[in-house]
Amino acid sequence: MSQQAFWNEKFSREGYLYGKEPNAFLSNCYNNFIKSERILCLGEGEGRNAIFLAKKGYEVAAIDASDIGLKKLESFAQQEHVSVTTRCQDLNEWVPNKKYGAIVFSYLHLLDNEKQSLFTKIETSLIHQGFFIAEVFSKNQLNYSSGGPKDAELLYSIEDFKKAFKHCIIHKLEEVEVELDEGKGHKGLASVIRIIAQRN
Ligand SMILES: C[S@@+](CC[C@H](N)C(=O)[O-])C[C@H]1O[C@@H](n2cnc3c(N)ncnc32)[C@H](O)[C@@H]1O
Repeated sequence: MSQQAFWNEKFSREGYLYGKEPNAFLSNCYNNFIKSERILCLGEGEGRNAIFLAKKGYEVAAIDASDIGLKKLESFAQQEHVSVTTRCQDLNEWVPNKKYGAIVFSYLHLLDNEKQSLFTKIETSLIHQGFFIAEVFSKNQLNYSSGGPKDAELLYSIEDFKKAFKHCIIHKLEEVEVELDEGKGHKGLASVIRIIAQRN
């Protein structure tokens, strides 16, 4: 099944699967971003992070494979009187052609070769001193029942991030246990990896 079919089925259900509040880690980091530089949200789904950032006054773009997720993002943006540029695309086919002051994602889970290829595209798409910030489930999340894929390859290790981002200063790279309360999709104790990297 394609990512689009998988996520369209999930996002077809009523409500916002991960809620309407931004991911807590991302929402604590945004004030590092330069106001005049645009922000890109990857695997943004129904839009909670993108809309939070747009409401803070940033120019925001979002890419996701799910057209149904992005339609919900657009109607959420309308309700909040903000605008977010959306593009429905599989990130494996994304050919970056713009630079961003920050690129962020929460819970975008890919296969190993896809992760490394995306990380390279992210690094080359950041302006000098631009930020990459993400929160994802770690491989240890297989021992928890608070959400996330049940396939170890789709989960992350600290090493996945260390192998990439050679042109960045890593301000934070940690695996931590956190209590999630993000809609019906992520609830309870979880093992996550958080990264803050800044382009040299
Ligand atoms: C767990 S959801 C997280 C959504 C959003 N980031 C959030 O935290 O609310 C994963 C998202 O990644 C998107 N996604 C997964 N694989 C993708 C791919 N290869 N290309 C584009 N989007 C993808 C899905 O469509 C889905 O919206």
